[in-house]
Amino acid sequence: MTQPGAAVRLAVIPGDGVGPEVIGATVPVLAAAVSAQGGELQVTELDWGGERFLREGAAMPADAADVAKEHDAVLFGAVGRPDVPDHELVWGLIIGLRQQLDLAVNIRPVQAFAGVPTKVRDTDGVDLVIVRENTEGEYVGAGGVAHAGSGHDLGIEVAVHSRRVIERAAHHAFALAGKRSGKLSLVTKSNAMRHGYPLWDRVVAEVGEQYPGVELETVLVDAMAARMIQAPRSLDVLLAGNLFGDILSDLAAVLAGGMGMAPSANVLPGGDVPGIYEPVHGSAPDIAGRGVANPVACLLSGALLLEDLGHTKAAHGIRQAVAAALLDPQNHTPDLGGSATTADLASAVLNRMET
Ligand code: NAI
Ligand code: MG
Repeated sequence: MTQPGAAVRLAVIPGDGVGPEVIGATVPVLAAAVSAQGGELQVTELDWGGERFLREGAAMPADAADVAKEHDAVLFGAVGRPDVPDHELVWGLIIGLRQQLDLAVNIRPVQAFAGVPTKVRDTDGVDLVIVRENTEGEYVGAGGVAHAGSGHDLGIEVAVHSRRVIERAAHHAFALAGKRSGKLSLVTKSNAMRHGYPLWDRVVAEVGEQYPGVELETVLVDAMAARMIQAPRSLDVLLAGNLFGDILSDLAAVLAGGMGMAPSANVLPGGDVPGIYEPVHGSAPDIAGRGVANPVACLLSGALLLEDLGHTKAAHGIRQAVAAALLDPQNHTPDLGGSATTADLASAVLNRMET
């Protein structure tokens, strides 16, 4: 927490592809929002990502977690470039940092804004949050390759689910559900996977006993995928493991207009480490370099960041301005069916903050 009038020490990792484009659009908006409340945004830009990997053999320095800890929060764009194997950058940066900082949960809110067209019909009023476990599950990094190159290669990927990690994600999800509608949907797959997900079901139900005001339901992930499209307003807070949370959050983003609209926060609730705030999307190489990426996912990630630091009014100011700008189709980027550039949409947001 920092005080609303105090300086915010922000580390910024633009990364690759559209990362620098959406970050470039977001930082001035954050600075304006903080200064409107009498504070100051102090930005340290870090050159971590694909170019650094090609130059130095590593996407980030060995002491990356310590560098992050010198700041109140980290704003991250995206990594990924066609000439570097994906795992080198995704593991070498964002998944690695989430693990090193032990950022227990990835919060992914999905909100349908008025005036934004969606490929799915009838999404008015959709407002849900996915709480994704962020350090274990299928992305824990355990496994290996046997008989490499023999023609009989064997890829072994081990999913790990521990009580401690499930408990802390569950506490966060129940507390959040308690502040919202009082409904929590746990997403597992315990009919087909007989070890890890039944543990989730048991542990989450146990944690739930401490939150009598929250109603818990357990839904299989395949059924949840269908329900998310058919009855999205029946959902409020979802709790999912690392893999299912990742997949469902891209699906949920479609309800709000697509990947350009989905923000996220990687945090350790109650912990003394900076959170990492990032759009859910990747580096979007198919549109990178043209200045047409939708900056909303990154802008809303910035709002989550300021809110978590206690700058509630600044965060609110950004969300209001984004909502107001999106009402006018002139400000829509191509992913929303418009012809505005990243800079056009960002300046529409800035203008609406200043008025
Ligand atoms: P992606 O999210 O980059 O792109 C998927 C689709 O969404 C593309 O059609 C893209 O044009 C569109 N899109 C994404 N962001 C957008 C925006 N702001 N405005 C408008 N349209 C947008 O996912 P993809 O294509 O699977 O991955 C591309 C690269 O990004 C890969 O190297 C991948 O590993 C990496 N990646 C990195 C992530 C991270 O840094 N956290 C997360 C996901 C992927
Ligand atoms: Mg993803």
